[in-house]
Amino acid sequence: MSAAAPRKVLVLNGPNLGRLGSREPDVYGSTSYAGLVERCTRLGRELGLEVEVRETNDEGEMIRWLHEAADASLPVVLNPAAFTHYSYGMRDAAAQRTAPLIEVHISNPHAREEFRHTSVVAAVASGTIAGFGIGSYELALRALADDRPQG
Ligand code: DQA
Repeated sequence: MSAAAPRKVLVLNGPNLGRLGSREPDVYGSTSYAGLVERCTRLGRELGLEVEVRETNDEGEMIRWLHEAADASLPVVLNPAAFTHYSYGMRDAAAQRTAPLIEVHISNPHAREEFRHTSVVAAVASGTIAGFGIGSYELALRALADDRPQG
């Protein structure tokens, strides 16, 4: 009997995250976006997940990716970046999920400016992991691999 195919997971990143490494390294660290992709895909392989990492500065594209995930029942690790704080369109797309969706943040938005304290996505996510640097993504992938998310 052949081994089970790895479960596919989408790691979706919102605006400005493609600039990791050079973007405010005191807040977001020195790992580049390419480094993030590498760490997520490598950990995914170890956990038996086929991880595909994407990033966009475009709200419509993010919404289309969330529709794609809902239609294919794909689990999602979502760093909505600034969309977190105001995009009801993205929230409504995330609410259509048919598999776990974990909201992640590199920084801890609650320890930062007040406008970052609101997440319009949190209430429709399975859970949120924030403040552990790039490690937030790794914790989310481990939670998905362990089937920890409830929703
Ligand atoms: C972020 C936090 C957001 O407030 C911010 O707009 C980002 C990144 C994070 O990963 O810490 O772009 O989502």
